[in-house]
Amino acid sequence: MYSSEIIGCGMYVPEKVVTNHDLSKIMDTTHDWIVQRSGIEERRWVNDETSTSDLALVACEEAIKNAGIDKSEIDCLLFATISPDHDFPGNACFLQPKLGLTDIPAIDIRQQCSGFLYGMSVADAFIKSGQYKTILLVGAEIHSKGLDKSTKGRDVAVLFGDGAGAVVIRRTDVTDKTKNSHIFSTHLFAEGSNAKALWTAAPGSGLGTSQRISMQDIENGLQYPSMNGKKVFANAVRRMCECLMLALETNHLKLEDIDLFLFHQANLRINQMLAQELKIPEEKVFNTIMKYGNTTAATIPIGMSEAVKAGKLKKGSLVASAAFGSGFTWASSIYRW
Ligand SMILES: CC(C)(COP(=O)(O)OP(=O)(O)OC[C@H]1O[C@@H](n2cnc3c(N)ncnc32)[C@H](O)[C@@H]1OP(=O)(O)O)[C@@H](O)C(=O)NCCC(=O)NCCS
Repeated sequence: MYSSEIIGCGMYVPEKVVTNHDLSKIMDTTHDWIVQRSGIEERRWVNDETSTSDLALVACEEAIKNAGIDKSEIDCLLFATISPDHDFPGNACFLQPKLGLTDIPAIDIRQQCSGFLYGMSVADAFIKSGQYKTILLVGAEIHSKGLDKSTKGRDVAVLFGDGAGAVVIRRTDVTDKTKNSHIFSTHLFAEGSNAKALWTAAPGSGLGTSQRISMQDIENGLQYPSMNGKKVFANAVRRMCECLMLALETNHLKLEDIDLFLFHQANLRINQMLAQELKIPEEKVFNTIMKYGNTTAATIPIGMSEAVKAGKLKKGSLVASAAFGSGFTWASSIYRW
């Protein structure tokens, strides 16, 4: 059976830095509250003209260059996002012509903060089945255009930022698991009974009304995300622990075998608690949330690019990733870089 490997990565964040102090000018919050509860110091916001596929394009071009391939080799495009350019078609369709590609399948993945790992799993399965050989997977989000930036929305608004991260995943032959770069496994989970613990209600056909959104819905703020923060927090720690341990067990690996832990970045305290619970040394956990906040599907590939630049992620490194998010959805993966 074929295996798949990540052969290149790229990222892009908008230039505009929005600090906690900037937020405290538009809503009732403070730098100290945000840092103490989440670890976030600043995030990036786009300007009005930029779309999610624009962000994705820059990250993809960097990933293609980093992979050293010609873009004509890409035979499938996967786009993970919950903040697309338009309601439909999917964002991969908007991105495809910007990349100068045509005809190849353009597939969207939702799954929120687990979107990138769900995408990795889909890419890995496509490659293993022999259906595609070189897949471009991008996670990109523009949250800044969808947040309630008044005091009413402060619990959610301070946590999220804009950004994009991409990888090229390609078919490979693995002769030596201890040396060859490849994806060892992906594990995916969901618990839809908690769908409304972190969600955006409108626009949608489930509102029990004749239209997907009304002026009344907008006045009620249904177009903004709402969250039960404590419930999300507790489940994130528990589920990420569980799926990480399952990934290790499946691959007959121990925590000590892992060189780098690249977790989703929803809250620095979630990752610190996870590391504490599993006794993972702090220096093995790579965090970016301080600079970018939670960029949802873009988070893990942004982390990959930043970790490479920081010299923490090197050829041959054994990496474990885990994510948790709205749905609830959660996922893990182990891969050799
Ligand atoms: C959102 C989160 C940071 C809140 O932290 P918390 O310790 O649970 O804080 P609480 O919800 O108990 O709120 C404490 C108080 O701070 C207030 N508060 C909320 N947001 C605030 C903000 N941005 N600035 C200042 N005060 C704020 C609340 O209104 C509350 O006030 P009250 O006690 O007068 O009612 C935390 O629950 C969290 O990170 N949850 C997980 C979020 C997440 O991972 N989301 C993405 C999923 S992928």
